[in-house]
Amino acid sequence: MRRALIAGNWKMNLGLEEGMVLVQSLLNQSSAEDFANCDVLVCPQMPLIAPLADIAGNIKIGAQDCGATDSGAFTGDTSPQLLASLGCDYVIVGHSERRAGRFEDDGLIQAKAGAAQKAGLTAIVCVGESEMERELGNAETIVASQLAGSIPEGSNAENLVVAYEPVWAIGTGKTASEADVQEMHASIRDQLEDLLGDASKIRILYGGSVKADNAKALLALKDVDGALVGGASLKAESFMPIIKATK
Ligand code: 13P
Repeated sequence: MRRALIAGNWKMNLGLEEGMVLVQSLLNQSSAEDFANCDVLVCPQMPLIAPLADIAGNIKIGAQDCGATDSGAFTGDTSPQLLASLGCDYVIVGHSERRAGRFEDDGLIQAKAGAAQKAGLTAIVCVGESEMERELGNAETIVASQLAGSIPEGSNAENLVVAYEPVWAIGTGKTASEADVQEMHASIRDQLEDLLGDASKIRILYGGSVKADNAKALLALKDVDGALVGGASLKAESFMPIIKATK
């Protein structure tokens, strides 16, 4: 049995006060039972990691990216060790907005994920095909090659989460069909099995226009162990129902 993970990726949204209010609202509106069913994570912008970790209670805090080494002359990067020392538990790496918009390749993503794991963080490695790749029937091949290139050797259920986010479903209101999501997640699990030995406990999240009204059906799929939520994670009214959908 895998414990669900509902993760909010705030991207470049929400300032200090808004972030504090949102975390407080999530705490006020949730019960112990909600946290019994799943881990709840929010990933704010870097400068909010420490202040939010101080008030987050049962909610976990994650970063949206990290540097590929512990320390050194890497202007603008953030050390995963520093993140861990500030109360951060997870870090998203290889989001499609960084793969495409910041030209990050599998090798860099693997190095970042490895550095995060070495610092004691759980790396959430994102993979996903473009619309054209899906239309050409190449979705599984593309995702398999992203996994092979970006998962660090020796990863396990404690230090690795995989997020499948079809690029065409991000922020568009389009979601993959339930059958396509289950098929892709099963294929990812098979590939993780090949790469790492045992993948039965590794959590695989779905991301891409997850909302209150589609969360229950997606989360009920056999190989979907949680969600990586963008837009709907920015307000308690839209994020809370997704957390509650894990019941
Ligand atoms: P949306 O939920 O806004 O589609 O974003 C998904 C995402 O990119 C999460 O990382």
